[in-house]
Amino acid sequence: MDMPTVALNNGYSIPLVGLGTSPMLGRPCIRAVSTALRNGYRLIDTATKYSNELSVGMGITASAVPRNDIVIQTKLAGGDQGFDEAINAAKDSGRRLGIDHLDIYLIHWPCPSLGKTVESWKALLTLVDEGYVRVAGVSNFKRHHLQLLYDETGRWPALNQIQCSPALQRTELREFMAEKGIHTQAWHPTGSKEGLLGDPSIIRLARKYGKSPTQIALKWAVTHGISVVPKSSHEGRQIENADLFDFEYDSDDLAALAALDRGEPAARDSDIDEEF
Ligand SMILES: NC(=O)c1ccc[n+]([C@@H]2O[C@H](COP(=O)([O-])OP(=O)(O)OC[C@H]3O[C@@H](n4cnc5c(N)ncnc54)[C@H](OP(=O)(O)O)[C@@H]3O)[C@@H](O)[C@H]2O)c1
Repeated sequence: MDMPTVALNNGYSIPLVGLGTSPMLGRPCIRAVSTALRNGYRLIDTATKYSNELSVGMGITASAVPRNDIVIQTKLAGGDQGFDEAINAAKDSGRRLGIDHLDIYLIHWPCPSLGKTVESWKALLTLVDEGYVRVAGVSNFKRHHLQLLYDETGRWPALNQIQCSPALQRTELREFMAEKGIHTQAWHPTGSKEGLLGDPSIIRLARKYGKSPTQIALKWAVTHGISVVPKSSHEGRQIENADLFDFEYDSDDLAALAALDRGEPAARDSDIDEEF
């Protein structure tokens, strides 16, 4: 598998396609992580909230792929926000994953009612400065959440993992992030829950390029420089989801895909939705 990468604002490079692991647990999770890695995936996305860090670690070991070839990304749960709490939570994640440092560590949700995002962000920066975390980032942060981190610390996150697909293009947020050097990574990149995969434009492009509707959706993201973490427990689908780099959209295709955006109000609102 020839997997293109994208450079983050600190020079660290990540693959454009990684494996999402929620809601896999136990043996199915171990198997999925191991098959993905054996087939060439090099980024695995997990979170303390998914309760599968132990299984992800076992899947990595089972794959026999060298640890240093893999980008392991996990997330700070809302309930672990706070300075000391975040430092301890990161170390606990590393222990569960069976690794001595975290490649990417994200604040999972801003959880504004806690009022602890700045303290948590300072903890992530400390972990970077101490070398325990290579890349500090966030997830589900809106523009004003990102701005607050910068205003308080003078440092932008390297990456923001957000709900993003052709159905939820998040254009204004992505433009702001691009301006600040913050990489966009998409969760739920297939857009299946928004009914995207049955859309006539998606079906037409799938026929045009001999690809599946899922590949058409994922290709939209990588064409825009957005990395994706599709989850599949099926080996064949994992391979399919990474097989995106042998065709290119033309301007008519991109216009048809742009028209599928349902707008910001259709995305989960992290000022209201909080996950602990
Ligand atoms: N930061 C956050 O708050 C947040 C929130 C949600 C998710 N995430 C992360 O993002 C990852 C992906 O998000 P997601 O799981 O919501 O959405 P997704 O990856 O867009 O969709 C996953 C669903 O699509 C199916 N699927 C995957 N590839 C397929 C293919 N080629 N053909 C047909 N069906 C396919 C999977 O089923 P099978 O497994 O049966 O193939 C699964 O039901 C998660 O696993 C997690 O790591 C992060």
